[in-house]
Amino acid sequence: MKIAVIPGDGIGKEVMQEALLVLETLQELEEDLSVDTTIFDWSSDYYLRTGRMMPEEGLTILADYDAILFGAIGDARVPDDVTVWELIMPIRKQFDQYVNFRPVKSLPGIASPLAHADHIDFVIFRENTEGEYSNSGGRLYRDKPQDLAIQNTVMTKKGIGNIVSAACDYAQKYGKSTVTSATKSNAVIHTMKFWDECVTEEMKQYPDLHLKSYYIDALVAYFVEKPQEFEVVVASNLFGDILSDLGSAIIGGLGLSPSGNINPERNYPSMFEPVHGSAPDIAGRGIANPIAQIWSLALLLGHLGRTDLEKVIVSSIERVLEAGEVKTADIGGSATTKEMGTAIREAVKMSFERRVV
Ligand code: NAI
Ligand code: MG
Repeated sequence: MKIAVIPGDGIGKEVMQEALLVLETLQELEEDLSVDTTIFDWSSDYYLRTGRMMPEEGLTILADYDAILFGAIGDARVPDDVTVWELIMPIRKQFDQYVNFRPVKSLPGIASPLAHADHIDFVIFRENTEGEYSNSGGRLYRDKPQDLAIQNTVMTKKGIGNIVSAACDYAQKYGKSTVTSATKSNAVIHTMKFWDECVTEEMKQYPDLHLKSYYIDALVAYFVEKPQEFEVVVASNLFGDILSDLGSAIIGGLGLSPSGNINPERNYPSMFEPVHGSAPDIAGRGIANPIAQIWSLALLLGHLGRTDLEKVIVSSIERVLEAGEVKTADIGGSATTKEMGTAIREAVKMSFERRVV
């Protein structure tokens, strides 16, 4: 496997170190796992040095890899729209990573802030290449009284069909019965009505699956009131983005949530990254939770066919959390990033010892 590693900014660099150490441990334990990693320092520092977030031929370079492990970007010295639109967005869009896969799952030893919610286990399929996050639009009459901005939402039958079929394929594979669609067709009458139509049309291919469609405002309330009821949620780019931060919050925080930007056809490398950003408020202190990043590595290995190693990592994370001795500050403890990373590596080693026995 050839993996491109982009740690990025802030805590991205800190949590990536721990993920790479987990990968190193796996390679020591598993003879038939051979991974070549190349680290790219594409980040805000790189931008301040070169005027670009990545080299001009950046995407061509990445196209040679089997997958990308990404940390997080964002730095007060560079506008957020530059870091996002010149690094993450081109990768997601040009590599047609139209599935943004975001698991939302209760973990042992981690109390949900919702008193009644201990068995949350669903997955969000967020459309990742079009929708509300388009660069179509513009600004007119800047600094004049009639100043105005237009931002166009781009929804295509193909784009919506693709994300819905990815969600449905997943639902079938994992024995789920219901797919929930996030909409707002009562108010956003052009694009969201179209979304509804395309979702219904695509779901005809999956007669055994049940479709539930909710307006986004009601849906966020249901995420809080009855999160156990969801299995697979499919949403547009913006709605999916917001829903997945809420998803992270109800299972105990951003430090625990991984994601995949996936090109299901495998024409391009897919990219795996924590849901969280560069967390400037805690960066440089060595206290960030590395679980989201390590779990993202697990998703990457699963995507490349090593679901056995994905399971080893995820169950190691669960065992550490269940034991409850090592917890970072965001989940109510005082352990450092390194201590959490080390505990997970020890748990990985233990699962291999058990496997050998
Ligand atoms: P954020 O996710 O960086 O932080 C939100 C809050 O969660 C902060 O209080 C932070 O300390 C905490 N947090 C996040 N990850 C944590 C972890 N692993 N362990 C412990 N605590 C953690 O979001 P925010 O503050 O809105 O954005 C900061 C920067 O990150 C901005 O520049 C933003 O554009 C960028 N960003 C980048 C993303 C990416 O690279 N894909 C995604 C989201 C934001
Ligand atoms: Mg987000």
